[in-house]
Amino acid sequence: MNISLLGIPMDLGAGRRGVDMGPSALRNARLAHHLRDLGHTVTDLGDVPVAIPETADKLSQQGLVFLDSILDACTGAYDRLRALPDDTFSISMGGDHSMSMGTVPGAARGKRTGVIWVDAHTDFNTPDSSPSGNIHGMPVAHLTGLGDARLAGIGGGWHAHPEDIVMIGIRSIDARERELIREHGITVYTMKEVDQLGITRIAEETLERLFGVERLHVSFDADALDPTVCPGVGTPVPGGLTYREGHLLMELLSESQRVTSMDIVEVNPILDVRNETAQVMVGMAASLLGQRIL
Ligand code: ARG
Ligand code: MN
Ligand code: MN
Ligand code: MN
Repeated sequence: MNISLLGIPMDLGAGRRGVDMGPSALRNARLAHHLRDLGHTVTDLGDVPVAIPETADKLSQQGLVFLDSILDACTGAYDRLRALPDDTFSISMGGDHSMSMGTVPGAARGKRTGVIWVDAHTDFNTPDSSPSGNIHGMPVAHLTGLGDARLAGIGGGWHAHPEDIVMIGIRSIDARERELIREHGITVYTMKEVDQLGITRIAEETLERLFGVERLHVSFDADALDPTVCPGVGTPVPGGLTYREGHLLMELLSESQRVTSMDIVEVNPILDVRNETAQVMVGMAASLLGQRIL
């Protein structure tokens, strides 16, 4: 398969510094090399230009911190991905999760697309519901067209259908965000369901639910995995997916041969131990792209 890598070195959407170094850490953990070992043709497209907090205009517009610069970065990512051939599998390397407002529509290329959101958080805040104003807590709401019109408009009018979104690994939701998730009927497998049902059943149900979509995007926030597995994340939450649950989910999605694109987000090298988090996430990408134990 042809795989394109795109870096979005952005931490403007997060509450603390460091995930802007995520693309570097993933390259250092030899993402391209591991994918080539699996027989893929890999092209690194380099990075999308992203402002840095030290010089960007922080001016919080209607509760949206660094709105203008995040809009620019997401639009840049959208344009790069939208221009790729339909059969190229894109991996967007973040960067904070606000980048997905550009990468998901870019990878969707105007088609009906299922979104599998692997995360400790639902990231379904709107500017009104957000307790922090941090845009990385808001991408999914904007992908469905809610919230700020500029952020919701990044995909040139493309939106995710709420019924085509499945979240896995969830264990942290803000009070008003919870109401929005219920109101819009988003399918959420919290850690309780992971414990109760197991990843195998969840993967089966997810693929069944997303049967009708043309494209399938996996947005993998490193904080979905337990902080003991991925310590290098800005918003760690205890009680996450184990190393094997993460791999099993990627292996089962890979076996379906239906996934067409991926994000790897929220890798924070400043808080990491010897680049372990990036290495784990490279392993997750490898499993999604065909790596098997035997
Ligand atoms: N719910 C919190 C907020 O809105 C945390 C979001 C964390 N998101 C993330 N992509 N790490 O600020
Ligand atoms: Mn997230
Ligand atoms: Mn998260
Ligand atoms: Mn829109």
